[in-house]
Amino acid sequence: MKFSKSCVYQIYPRSFADSNGDGIGDIRGIINKLDYIKSLGVEYIWSTPFFVSPQNDNGYDVADYRNIDPRFGTMADVEELIAEADKRGIGLMFDMVFNHCSTSHEWFQRALKGEEKYLNYFIFKDGEPDKPPTNWVSKFGGNAWEYVPNLKKWYLHLFDVSQADLNWDNPEVREELKDVLRFWKKKGVKGFRFDVVNLIDKSRGFIDDNEGDGRRFYTDGPRIHEYLKELVRDSGIDGMITVGEMSSTSIDNCIKYSGADEHELSMTFSFHHLKVDYLKGDKWALMPADIGALKKLFEDWQVRMAQANAWNALFWCNHDQPRAVSRFGDDGKYWKESAKMLAATTHLMRGTPYIYQGEELGMTNATYTSIEQYRDVESLNYYKILLEQGKTQEEALKIIGERSRDNGRTPMQWSAEKYAGFSNVEAWISSPDNYREINVAVEEKDPDSILNFYKQLVKIREENKIVQEGDISFIERDNNDVIAYRRTLDGAEWIILCNYRGTETSLQDKTLSAYVDEGYKKILGNFEGIAENLRPYELIVFEK
Ligand code: GLC
Ligand code: CA
Repeated sequence: MKFSKSCVYQIYPRSFADSNGDGIGDIRGIINKLDYIKSLGVEYIWSTPFFVSPQNDNGYDVADYRNIDPRFGTMADVEELIAEADKRGIGLMFDMVFNHCSTSHEWFQRALKGEEKYLNYFIFKDGEPDKPPTNWVSKFGGNAWEYVPNLKKWYLHLFDVSQADLNWDNPEVREELKDVLRFWKKKGVKGFRFDVVNLIDKSRGFIDDNEGDGRRFYTDGPRIHEYLKELVRDSGIDGMITVGEMSSTSIDNCIKYSGADEHELSMTFSFHHLKVDYLKGDKWALMPADIGALKKLFEDWQVRMAQANAWNALFWCNHDQPRAVSRFGDDGKYWKESAKMLAATTHLMRGTPYIYQGEELGMTNATYTSIEQYRDVESLNYYKILLEQGKTQEEALKIIGERSRDNGRTPMQWSAEKYAGFSNVEAWISSPDNYREINVAVEEKDPDSILNFYKQLVKIREENKIVQEGDISFIERDNNDVIAYRRTLDGAEWIILCNYRGTETSLQDKTLSAYVDEGYKKILGNFEGIAENLRPYELIVFEK
């Protein structure tokens, strides 16, 4: 269990720290904050892409995999970042967007000129202008194919029209991408995150989907494991820390992606637990989180991955997700308690925890009131789609307000100063007003803060083999108010009890006083002492 001790800190550079006063976070901003990151105790930083890009999808539309977008800095800055992080014992993980590249990439530009070699780098299909090859839906809305009149061909874009899917069937494409990995490994990068990497294999074919949006034809394709093994082996990155972002995947596939002897990836991100508040699976239809479903998912993934010696990345937040405390906790009255409870839920599980910038402060959703405040291409597309579907502006704004990826992209809240200490000018995207209370400067001084609790969790993992390697089993299994599990190792036992309700809740399997009577000691919590029942959003960790 190679990365069982580690925690990873995720940075979204555009929103982390602006060093040169243009309102956009940058690489020098990260360098300036390395001591802060070091103070969290994490071993790795994963940064989302800062490569040359038109930024239609904030850098996930890469136009040059080997150069730095001037908005974020220079190659010298990146080299300094790697070296300075290294001095502090922190390894950098870079984000490899290999399912697609920007239509501004030289490869696509040459394809547009009709060069055969580069046409084969992408998924082009001959056709008529009014009939796309399949009815597949782009993840950002609309049909997933775009017509190029002068070629009389369509190309596939599972994401934005400016993100053309690469053709992994073509060995030349695979060689190009291996070479990108070799390039960054040589620069001293310690690991990689692979963007939507389980969508790369389209060999199931291009068939209309009459039951869904097309994903069943391109998700976890038949050649995916072969492609990953080849990529990892030939680029020489086996053994480095790697994580794959797996969209709509299955446990069986993740067992292979991250199995200890498979030589694919170190671990996987899966997202089923972040869909428990989607009504009938639709992200744009609101529903309160189904805690029963959430706990069942955690149990399945934790237990089955453990049995198969595979490894989960543990997380609530990232740059694509609303803020966990606003979503599964309470960002009002029980803000502090619920943020800590949520953190402990994942950090004490089996896997490698990821902390997304600002999560360690309990940063909340953006609370925007107008569509003009949003920046994300997905939010702006879906706002239009929701209006077209007949929603009122108010209804559409409410949905976007809860579901927008911009909720996770507001500037990092460093201090109560103007612009949240993120920049000395207005940022590219605005901050919620609560930055005056929720920020690094305030929380560093408060021993009871969410920030200090996160530091404690990172340390607890580092120091306790039971957290790193212990077995896991779930308890209170029929209790839909509580997520609870047991970790065991060599006769030692920890019990983690988390109340997911804003009300008092009683336990079903064993009362709190019974734990105490049996000699369990409380070693961590978010309230003082032990009451008769679990208090709202209460967390208790017992040891025996
Ligand atoms: C991943 C990224 C997301 C991006 C998408 C397309 O889901 O996390 O931000 O928009 O892939 O690259
Ligand atoms: Ca800047």
